[in-house]
Amino acid sequence: MSAALSIARRLSLSGGKGGIPQLGYGVYQCPAAKTTATTLHALQTGYRHIDTAGIYRNEHAVVAATTQFLSANPSVTRSDIFISTKFAPHLQGYEAARNSIAQSLSHFRNPLAPGDRRLKLPANRPDGRSRSAWPDDPEFSKEKTENDGLGYIDLYLIHAPSGSLNDRNGAWRALVEAQERGEIKHLGVSNYGVRHLRELYDFIAAEERAGRPGGKVEVWQGEIHPWLSRHDIREFCEEHGIVIQAYSPLARATKFGDKLLREVKERTGKSEAQILVRWSLQMGFVPLPKSERNDRIEENAAVFDFELTEEEVKKLDTGRYEPSSWDPTVWTN
Ligand SMILES: NC(=O)c1ccc[n+]([C@@H]2O[C@H](COP(=O)([O-])OP(=O)(O)OC[C@H]3O[C@@H](n4cnc5c(N)ncnc54)[C@H](OP(=O)(O)O)[C@@H]3O)[C@@H](O)[C@H]2O)c1
Repeated sequence: MSAALSIARRLSLSGGKGGIPQLGYGVYQCPAAKTTATTLHALQTGYRHIDTAGIYRNEHAVVAATTQFLSANPSVTRSDIFISTKFAPHLQGYEAARNSIAQSLSHFRNPLAPGDRRLKLPANRPDGRSRSAWPDDPEFSKEKTENDGLGYIDLYLIHAPSGSLNDRNGAWRALVEAQERGEIKHLGVSNYGVRHLRELYDFIAAEERAGRPGGKVEVWQGEIHPWLSRHDIREFCEEHGIVIQAYSPLARATKFGDKLLREVKERTGKSEAQILVRWSLQMGFVPLPKSERNDRIEENAAVFDFELTEEEVKKLDTGRYEPSSWDPTVWTN
C-alpha cells in the first residue's frame, strides 16, 4: 500500500465522485487574518485538501485562498481541491444545521464577501489584463458571480455528537437534503463514537424504509495517532466502508521526544512530525496536520521519500488511550 503513496493520492469515498485527497491541511486555531496566507502556502506546496469548520471562523479565509489559488493556477481545477467543513457542536438540530449549511454555502459561493476583502490577487487576471483594482474590480466580481464561486462544499461533517438523538438525526437530515440539492458532495460525522454511529445507521435505515434518501456516512473524522488508537471505531469504519480523517495527527506536538518515536527517528533521520504524518498515511487514514508556519507546512508534506517498515507501523499502533484534546466519542447524551 505505502509504495503508492504520494501527495496527489486520493482515497475512494463510498459515494463516488472522485474521492478525497489523502493528505489534508487543518486550520483549527489559525486566526482568519492569517489563514488565507497559510492555506495559499499549503496549496502551493501541493496539499489539495483543507479542513476547516464553522466554529474555526476561518472558513471564508480558506475559500478566499482557494479562489485565489485557482485563479492564479488555471491548470488546477475546482474538482482537484477538496474542502471539509463542519456543523458547529454548540448548534443543534435540523433548523440550526440548515442555517449553518446556508452560511457555509454563502462563503463557498461568494468569495468576495466582506471578510475576504484583505485578499490580494496577483496583479494580472488569467487573461493577462490588469487586476489592480481587485477585489472591487466589477469585471472580476462578475466573473466570479457567474462562476458561482467554489460552487459546492466537498464534505460537510457534524462536528460532534452534541444535543439529543433527535437533534443529531435532524442535523443529518438537513445535510442529506443539502446533498440532494447539490450543495454538498459528501457527508460525514466527526467525534462520533460507535454508539452514535450505530444510532445514525438506524436512522438512515428508517429514512430509507419511509421512502426518503437516508444519505451515506462516507467519512468519520476523529483524533487518531499512536497514543490514541481507537480500534473499536476503526473496526466499525472498515466494516462500513467509511474513510477515516485523522485529526491532531501530531498529537498537537505534545509527544515529540517520546521514546516510542526514538528508534524510527534514528533510522529514518526524519522529524517526529514527518514520522507521525507518514504513519497515518500508511495506516490508510487521511491525516490533517495543522501549522501556521510555512516551513512546517512544507515539512509535514515532505513525507513521500521514506517509508516505515511494517513492524514500525504495527509498533506505533499501541492501543493506548491518551487524547490530546476533547473526546466527544464517549459522550452519553
Ligand atoms: N473535528 C474536531 O473536533 C477536530 C479537533 C481538532 C482538530 N481538528 C482538525 O485537525 C487539524 C489538526 O489537529 P490539531 O491542530 O489539533 O493538531 P496537530 O495537527 O496534531 O498539531 C498542531 C500543532 O503542532 C504544531 N506543529 C505542526 N507542525 C509541526 C512541525 N512540523 N514541527 C513542530 N510542531 C509542529 C503546530 O504549531 P504551529 O501552528 O505553530 O506550527 C500546532 O501547535 C486541525 O487543524 C483541524 O482541522 C478537528
